[in-house]
Amino acid sequence: MIRARVIGAGACLPSNIVTNDELAKTVDTSDEWIQGRTGIKQRHIALPGEKTSDLALGAARAALTDAGIDAGELDMIICATTTPDESFPAVATIVQSRLGMHQGAAFDVQAVCSGFVYGLSVADSLIRTGAARTILLIGAETMSRLLDWNDRTTCVLFGDGAGAVVLQAHTGVGTNADQGILNTRLFSDGRLHDMLYTDGGVSSTQSIGKLKMQGKEVFKHAVTNLSAAIQASADASNIPLSEIDWFVPHQANQRILDGTAKKLGIDPARVVSTVALHGNTSAASVPLALVTAVQDGRIKRGDLVLLEAMGGGFTWGAALLRW
Ligand code: ACO
Repeated sequence: MIRARVIGAGACLPSNIVTNDELAKTVDTSDEWIQGRTGIKQRHIALPGEKTSDLALGAARAALTDAGIDAGELDMIICATTTPDESFPAVATIVQSRLGMHQGAAFDVQAVCSGFVYGLSVADSLIRTGAARTILLIGAETMSRLLDWNDRTTCVLFGDGAGAVVLQAHTGVGTNADQGILNTRLFSDGRLHDMLYTDGGVSSTQSIGKLKMQGKEVFKHAVTNLSAAIQASADASNIPLSEIDWFVPHQANQRILDGTAKKLGIDPARVVSTVALHGNTSAASVPLALVTAVQDGRIKRGDLVLLEAMGGGFTWGAALLRW
């Protein structure tokens, strides 16, 4: 049985760090409020001229180096993003060109904060059906460009960044002992549009719009939906939650991470959290957290890792893999 195995991972963050205290100089907020309500201490914000494709390229190069392969060996690039450089073409094709890759295919996936998990599901399917052998999957965002900096209820929550993994076909025996992706589970409910959206877009206003959110409602749905996605993915492989070594959630808010862990009886020590340092980086948040836990030695080869995310749409999902 063919499995999609992660053979390399990398990240890229803008050098510009903005702390809560710095933000409080221009926004009516405080470090105490932001940390108490969200756990966020700082976020990276792209400098003027720094684009999503720049961050995506940085993460892509780091992941390829970690995998020990050249862009010439890739069959495909998938980039999960909600904040492309241009309405078209896809960020993935810009990265393809800048990597000097002239073969294969490149395209973007748009599922907002769930984008990386959605992209992982697409990549896994393409690898398992034999349509591709080696895929570079990136989550990259410049959410700072979509924010209304006069709206303190949203602008303090987000940050910019990118993370990437290289996935490669590997022959397993078809049991949970296999290395690679064991299952992915995707969900969405378009009726919940009004809770999280941008008030503009190409075909409606011919502008990008700004992010709008009903924070309290998003919070409630996040804990419910993420818990359900985690359970669905664990059940799909018949693995009890207690046997999963690491949970790598979308980093929206520490209280969402804690609430979800509590609801499912998961030990918070097994939940990777980078929200304090990165804020919510949308599709980049899961790979950024994953890379952090791999590089600091927490996630080791053979560990069972569950990735989970929820975002605008609403979209949500989870993926279980053996690292
Ligand atoms: N600084 C200071 N005060 C603020 C700020 C701020 N940045 N933002 C809001 N306030 C004030 C409000 O005006 C309000 O004041 P009032 O009581 O005088 O009216 C008070 O703080 C409480 O506001 P609430 O909205 O009730 O605060 P809440 O406890 O719900 O926290 C938050 C808000 C942090 C946004 C929370 O609802 C949340 O985390 N929701 C989830 C949203 C999220 O994570 N979205 C990310 C995208 S979706 C996803 O990724 C899963």
